[in-house]
Amino acid sequence: MKKLTMLLLLGLFALSSTLYAQKKKSTGKSTGKKSTGNKPSDFKGTWGTKVEEALKALKIKGNTKHGAIIYEEICANCHQPEGHGDPAGNFPQLAGQHSTVVIKQIADIRAGNRDNPTMYPFANAIALQEQTDDLFDKPKTGAETLADVSAFIETLKISTKNAKGDGKDLAHGEKLYKANCVKCHGDHGEGKAKDYYPLIASQNYNYLMRQFKWIKAGKRRNANPDMIKQIKNFSERDMKAVLDYVSRQVK
Ligand code: HEC
Ligand code: HEC
Repeated sequence: MKKLTMLLLLGLFALSSTLYAQKKKSTGKSTGKKSTGNKPSDFKGTWGTKVEEALKALKIKGNTKHGAIIYEEICANCHQPEGHGDPAGNFPQLAGQHSTVVIKQIADIRAGNRDNPTMYPFANAIALQEQTDDLFDKPKTGAETLADVSAFIETLKISTKNAKGDGKDLAHGEKLYKANCVKCHGDHGEGKAKDYYPLIASQNYNYLMRQFKWIKAGKRRNANPDMIKQIKNFSERDMKAVLDYVSRQVK
């Protein structure tokens, strides 16, 4: 029964993403910003990814030109051609995200650490490889496609036309951000590639809220335990204020 529901959901999503794809022709262009590539990383602590392809992908320097092709073929359908996501925040803005973070998040989605069945068929490195097989003269490994697409995403220009909060409690938000978030997400929400701290500046407010609540409630099972501790006592007002502030930060 569970399997059936899952299949149905996947079918629906495949349909909606096809409609999306037809509505919007892909124009994804690299801004020419240099990708930092995927540096070999030392997974400190216990919360890093253990998915084999992700570990491999982190050691490969991604090819951004090939990444653009893969992105346009698969990811643009949902995350939009420029990587800006959708206004409602169902699909997050990916533009500018650190390649290490993209790789870790995809590994987490694949490992079932994030409740995101919609992306599962695309996140699987083998599926990624199969879906992109005919795009290149020499077929790539799953890890290579992951490295390429992540390196490309990092070069996309971040949109600041993202959805924001109501702007009524920003002083409170700023205070909270400085006291609780700067040490990991940086002065302006820029994150930190080496430690897999995501870029959160200019992210869609609704998406931020959903993820923040899920992390707080332990629903993102591979989240950093220190962040969970840090936000344990945040009230509804605190969350709204700090995430409104984050959504207005420019990297
Ligand atoms: C069928 C639609 C769909 C497709 C296709 C898709 N995604 Fe996603 N993606 C989503 C959704 C929905 C989320 C948000 C999940 C959540 O709310 O937890 C997401 C989340 C993500 C995240 C996590 C972002 C964050 O800030 O934590 C990354 C990274 C990502 N996608 C990368 C990709 C890449 C790369 C591709 C192409 C290979 C891709 N996605 C294709 C729907 C899709
Ligand atoms: C100890 C370091 C740390 C602290 C402190 C911290 N975070 Fe995080 N944050 C992380 C890491 C690591 C992730 C990625 C979690 C994962 O992989 O699931 C994350 C993820 C997030 C996400 C989800 C992003 C996405 O794209 O899906 C949001 C939103 C967020 N943090 C906001 C905040 C805010 C706001 C604060 C302060 C109130 C904060 N964090 C404090 C480390 C931290």
